[in-house]
Amino acid sequence: MAPISSVRASMTKQRVLTGITTTGTPHLGNYVGASRPAIAASTQPDVESFLFLADYHALIKSQDPQLVRRSSKEVAATWLALGLDTQRTVFYRQSDIPEIPKLTWLLTCISAKGLLNRAHAYKAAVQANEDDPDRDPDQGINMGLFSYPILMAADILMFKADFVPVGRDQAQHIEMTREIAARFNHVFGEHLVLPQAVIEETQAVLPGLDGRKMSKSYNNTIPLWEPEKKLRKAIMKIKTNSLEPGEPKDPDDSALFKIYRAFVDAEAAAEMRQAFADGIAWGEAKQKVFLRINDELEEARERYNSYIERPSDIEDILQAGAVRARAFSEPFMHELCEATGISSLG
Ligand code: TRP
Repeated sequence: MAPISSVRASMTKQRVLTGITTTGTPHLGNYVGASRPAIAASTQPDVESFLFLADYHALIKSQDPQLVRRSSKEVAATWLALGLDTQRTVFYRQSDIPEIPKLTWLLTCISAKGLLNRAHAYKAAVQANEDDPDRDPDQGINMGLFSYPILMAADILMFKADFVPVGRDQAQHIEMTREIAARFNHVFGEHLVLPQAVIEETQAVLPGLDGRKMSKSYNNTIPLWEPEKKLRKAIMKIKTNSLEPGEPKDPDDSALFKIYRAFVDAEAAAEMRQAFADGIAWGEAKQKVFLRINDELEEARERYNSYIERPSDIEDILQAGAVRARAFSEPFMHELCEATGISSLG
């Protein structure tokens, strides 16, 4: 069977959709892995893009209302500061779209429990419990964590997204989305579009301060909007080895090099590679990395700070986005409800 997305592609613009969970302060890893590619994609002429704040997802990880609210504001301000064109991109907050939890339920009822048992995040949580003899395997695991991939599937399927730019850790969720959509279509008819993940292979995973993937859960992040001095300090903390100035260094074994690589073109990367071979001092290499990153972020940082001071402007933008998103989700949800028999009798 020809995938629906390829049929759509020939008739309509490609639709790209992505979301960011609002549980933390945006860091360089989020920027390189998600925001930057999503914003770049949104400026392409043949693309229609949808971007949203995944605040329902946030509740799975955090029950701290202040943190969730602050993070929603920071994530929204980040995308706006990075130059998201909200005329072209439908920019909204997940919780402003009542059709998403409705679709989540429709999908929940056709999703195999066994499929969700296999989700990496859930499995890792169970495994952590099993590794501790004093704990029940389900300890501390809420149904939100278990059902997380279904909510994410609803986010994507609600808007018939063709492409979903995500970090590598999310690739499994897109596979699950496809599986759930295919099942829905099999049972209720061809309504849902099967999406494809878009993972920027070279840049998807940015290392953090300790060389592992930059992630809030490893506590090794560099916040995106640190003031200049603090940004420099954070970069100086990136772990290196004890090789002295003048001793050749291996870029392929260096978190610092990999971070630099995510901010420069091939030519500048090759120059840095050579500098490593020539024994550049770690301090000097770090200074170069700082200058490059700071240069990329400086102007956006000012815009970010000014949005943070005007949250009601952010709110107005989100509300306008929700109106546009619902112009699509409301009638489509109606179609899906009809398909499942949740419909008017009259
Ligand atoms: N789960 C994603 C993450 O943690 C965020 C997300 C929620 C998302 N819904 C989505 C991403 C839909 C892409 C599409 O990164």
